[in-house]
Amino acid sequence: MTHNESMTIAPILEVKSISKFFGSVIALHDVSMFVRPGEVTCLLGDNGAGKSTLIKTLAGVHKPTEGEYFFEGKPVDFNSPRDALEHGIATVYQDLAMIPLMSIWRNFFLGSEPTKGVPPLRRFDVSHAKQVTREEMAKMGIDIRNPDQPVGTLSGGERQSVAIARAVYFGAKVLILDEPTAALGVKQAGVVLRYILQAKQRGIGVIFITHNPHHAYPVGDHFVILRRGTIYGDYAKADVPLEQLVSMMAGGADLEALSHELASASRTDTGRAAEELAEAAQAYHATAVEAAEGATQDE
Ligand SMILES: Nc1ncnc2c1ncn2[C@@H]1O[C@H](COP(=O)(O)OP(=O)(O)OP(=O)(O)O)[C@@H](O)[C@H]1O
Ligand SMILES: [Mg+2]
Repeated sequence: MTHNESMTIAPILEVKSISKFFGSVIALHDVSMFVRPGEVTCLLGDNGAGKSTLIKTLAGVHKPTEGEYFFEGKPVDFNSPRDALEHGIATVYQDLAMIPLMSIWRNFFLGSEPTKGVPPLRRFDVSHAKQVTREEMAKMGIDIRNPDQPVGTLSGGERQSVAIARAVYFGAKVLILDEPTAALGVKQAGVVLRYILQAKQRGIGVIFITHNPHHAYPVGDHFVILRRGTIYGDYAKADVPLEQLVSMMAGGADLEALSHELASASRTDTGRAAEELAEAAQAYHATAVEAAEGATQDE
């Protein structure tokens, strides 16, 4: 899909001038953003920027203090996460709601068990549940050898994938992922990024929260940057090279500032330790820029 084509698709979810106050704390102020079906909207920002508060507001956990919320073009006012889920807004939190000792298939169907027969003969259809779990995971490219395996034996990335596959199977139209790659190594993060693309290809509007522009850039269609509770910018991928995204993220700019600060400290009396720190910060910054360039070439 080209950028121009995507411009004509109506948003599935949109908020206009949303604010959220917790007593005197202004967690969000005048935030407007949209999510289109079949696109990945990346939500970026530093610690405390308001990312989790924003998605909790979208997911029905918080009610906005001010502003408007539209889903499929109609104004909505969710009273609970279940309310949002019933509209097709599924959220995968980083601390996944899964039971480690329970099998993969049971976790997959947790709270939505498929039944067979009519009451009073209705019973949980185990073989169907196992088959669906295996099939749905296969669609996401994961080969589950044994659906009876406890979910706790899966890797972090695979567990995230079970949660994503589950949301997709139960008809999510919008899938919200709060830092799904934060605790993962490079390879597992790659696995989760692939499922994000799969969900996108199935026409789901994905909201992907991350601190890491290198995770966001390869999968994102547009990038919403939050700073101190307000929107700093919303950039279509075509309009923002990765390097710019990296430097707009607080991390990039701060690291550069930090390396200068440490370098000047080492010129005074702080000595060798500060110099080493400065070098490390510089090297880290250079690696980030290099990785950014690498990722752009990979596309
Ligand atoms: N329930 C709450 N009560 C009071 N203040 C809150 C509450 N939830 C969030 N905040 C405040 O709102 C601001 C935004 O927090 P939020 O958790 O949304 O940030 P975040 O961008 O998700 O950060 P992180 O990257 O660390 O997860 C913070 O200053 C936080 O202290
Ligand atoms: Mg958060």
